[in-house]
Amino acid sequence: MLLWDETLFSNGEVLELDHLPDHFAHRDSQMQAMKFSLKPALRSMRPVNCLVKGPPGTGKTTAVMKVFNEVKEYTDKVIFLKVNCQMEPTRFAVVSRIYEELAHIKPPTSGVAFRRLFEKVVKYLIDADKTLVIALDDINYLFPEGHADELMYSLLRAHEQYPGVRMSVIAIISDVGIPYTFDPRVGSVFLPEEIEFPRYETDEIGDIIDNRIRYAFYQDVVSSEARDAVVSYVDLTGDLRVGIDLLKRSGLNAERRASRTISFEDVERAYESSRLLHLCRNIRSLSGHEKTLLELIAKGNSLQTGELYKTFHELTGLGYTRFYEIIEKMHVSRLVDSDFSGKGMRGRTRYVTPVYDSSDILKCLEKTF
Ligand SMILES: Nc1ncnc2c1ncn2[C@@H]1O[C@H](COP(=O)(O)OP(=O)(O)OP(=O)(O)O)[C@@H](O)[C@H]1O
Ligand SMILES: [Mg+2]
Repeated sequence: MLLWDETLFSNGEVLELDHLPDHFAHRDSQMQAMKFSLKPALRSMRPVNCLVKGPPGTGKTTAVMKVFNEVKEYTDKVIFLKVNCQMEPTRFAVVSRIYEELAHIKPPTSGVAFRRLFEKVVKYLIDADKTLVIALDDINYLFPEGHADELMYSLLRAHEQYPGVRMSVIAIISDVGIPYTFDPRVGSVFLPEEIEFPRYETDEIGDIIDNRIRYAFYQDVVSSEARDAVVSYVDLTGDLRVGIDLLKRSGLNAERRASRTISFEDVERAYESSRLLHLCRNIRSLSGHEKTLLELIAKGNSLQTGELYKTFHELTGLGYTRFYEIIEKMHVSRLVDSDFSGKGMRGRTRYVTPVYDSSDILKCLEKTF
């Protein structure tokens, strides 16, 4: 039996998903490309915009934060800011976050037009003679309702309207297989340095996992079977986040059964929850009405949209436009499949189906409602 103060973790906090790791290997070329693009900022020139993309859990956010921290050491003329677009899902919300960062107070939430708020941001940057480098993390969440285009357009054209202002954008796209494009008006001013984050190779995953094990656990706690199982689950999902979460959960499982080592079975049991990590994270970002609609879809299995809308409307009182927007949004974030957006479909019966197992969706909804 492990005593209360006995634990397998020597440094459990390195297994928290928001932990910025000291050891961050296998992304040198991407970080180099980013630093190169930011370099003009050190000479008060406008940095080159970047488009960072790759599948979930391939180190994009971490790489950007590492680069920011590194470049910060060399200059106080640049403000580096990362905004999570899942949390700040409109142009107004993102610019409010920027304002908050610069002014150290929250802007009023109502009664201020976007333009006024944006002007304040620009004026601050010009008066302080500072460059803003803004990382728009998970910008894919802003595509469905056109917010991404609106936001990018405002940021990238700012210097035309307000000469002298220096801003650059690092757009981070978590690529879940849905094609995305910016409006041509944005495309013509964006012209980014594109930086790809491919899935890690198996030996890279092994190296990263071994390192995390070394920091997180006491020696010899993780059996080699458990370690191999974690590596192969990362290989399977392509997502390091799953591996780190697995280490934490399997460690807790081993502690629960008072074992001094983590076994293969501890990892297997942990995977039941870790595999739902993305789904739950995705669902957590939905509003109440959005969750209601997802629940209907999960319970109904391949619902015809007419019936679906009727039930949704009865429950929420919301109209068809909002209903359609929510379906689109959930389609883009890979929660549901819909045959809405195809052309030449008039008169056809349309269906919406969940991408994940209904029971998994309901499990995550239960946790996040
Ligand atoms: N090369 C690496 N070395 C060490 N840890 C890594 C490495 N790459 C990723 N990680 C870890 O994996 C987790 C996921 O990384 P990160 O959040 O940067 O992925 P991401 O590409 O931004 O994913 P998403 O598209 O889902 O936002 C983090 O906890 C991070 O510490
Ligand atoms: Mg990320």
